[in-house]
Amino acid sequence: MKRNTKRKTGKPEREEIFEVKACRICKNNDLLEFFSLGAMPPPNLFPKSDDNLENEPFYPLDVYFCQHCGLVQLKHVVNPNIMFRDYIYITSGSNTMVEHFGRLAEELVKKFKLNSDSLVVDIGSNDGTLLSHFKRLGPRTLGIDPAENLVSVAAEKGIEQLPLLFTNQSAKKVRQKYGRAKVITATNVFAHVNDLHDFVRGLKTLLTNDGIFIAEFPYLVDLLEKEELDTIYHEHLSYFAIRPLLTLFEKHDLKLFDVKRLPVHGGSIRLYVRRGGKKTLTPVVKELLRLEERMGMETSKPYLDFAKKAYDKRRNLVKFLSDLKAKGKQIIGYGAAAKGNILLNFCNIGPEILDYIVDAIPDKQGRITPGVHIPVYPEAKLLEDMPDYALLLAWNFADEILEKNKEYRKKGGKFILVVPEIKIV
Ligand code: TMP
Repeated sequence: MKRNTKRKTGKPEREEIFEVKACRICKNNDLLEFFSLGAMPPPNLFPKSDDNLENEPFYPLDVYFCQHCGLVQLKHVVNPNIMFRDYIYITSGSNTMVEHFGRLAEELVKKFKLNSDSLVVDIGSNDGTLLSHFKRLGPRTLGIDPAENLVSVAAEKGIEQLPLLFTNQSAKKVRQKYGRAKVITATNVFAHVNDLHDFVRGLKTLLTNDGIFIAEFPYLVDLLEKEELDTIYHEHLSYFAIRPLLTLFEKHDLKLFDVKRLPVHGGSIRLYVRRGGKKTLTPVVKELLRLEERMGMETSKPYLDFAKKAYDKRRNLVKFLSDLKAKGKQIIGYGAAAKGNILLNFCNIGPEILDYIVDAIPDKQGRITPGVHIPVYPEAKLLEDMPDYALLLAWNFADEILEKNKEYRKKGGKFILVVPEIKIV
């Protein structure tokens, strides 16, 4: 099968992709490339089968470790307009996340005594799921998200959402019209930001003096420990540990005063940040710093080890699936997740191995996956067809997906898991 492997870099396509030369946080250029996935398609851009696939974009996906402040990051930045303006991922596609955000809103309303006078701004508000929980509990809400297609989806939930990329400049405009926010949330957004310093300046512009910034994103410790190589994709420009975050917030006189580890998305952290305060580290921050130190995360070793294991995993997965195919088994994929698309492209697994992928999101159905072009169908096709195996690509929702497919499993269907190791359930 012919696949487009054009590698686009640097200057000629500056409007599509550009390369940063220095660390996003400390501006040092002592960056060590430790892992390259090669040229990969942006994993949320699902073509239609009659699109001109010759022009499908592929961009380099190489990961660097800043030997100065410790930030793990991408240097190539795909223009956010390409990735986010028309966004196919919606939060409400997963009950796990809907419930998770319900708990987050309840916790914050209680902890910070939010009421109808308090404004909560959610950056990367997507389809308004998190804000609809806040709205139900009392505070005023405002969503900010560059996805133009999601403004009306959020509006159906009664959520006002501005189609903007969050920057210090857009924060000033928002403040002028809506006033300052008591809480700003950004779930699975902070890692997507190229200019972190400008974003943090924007937080200070928009927050009240006693305001709180809450961010959630996958934790680098989990990524390394569980070998979650497919959480590396163009949207995720940073892979955060605590140490570089302290450098970032300190520079802006903000204090990271609490952190919680969360099970979502293969292991995430939630940050609680406010202005100023004492310079001393809180016990929970100290504890995570010790954990990172024990893992040697200020050295290149765990990253180089991770890369070696990722190449091993690719070899093992391709062999595992090819052996099943050789025995005449039918295999499909479950969940056309962004991470799944990276895994399949990294391993060069296409329709010759996976007949199709089932997925709950209607906008993905009827399309083909980026790069390897596997057709996407509704989830019901799994029970209708009863393939022998379903490769669980949306492994971050394993519990929810295994539970909802009890019938398929009862009838003899099997799931293949890939994280943390390859196994059949
Ligand atoms: P994500 O990892 O990029 O968030 O994508 C997860 C994908 O998994 C998304 O396309 C929806 C899909 N999915 C299902 O198809 N069925 C489900 O039950 C769940 C939870 C997710």
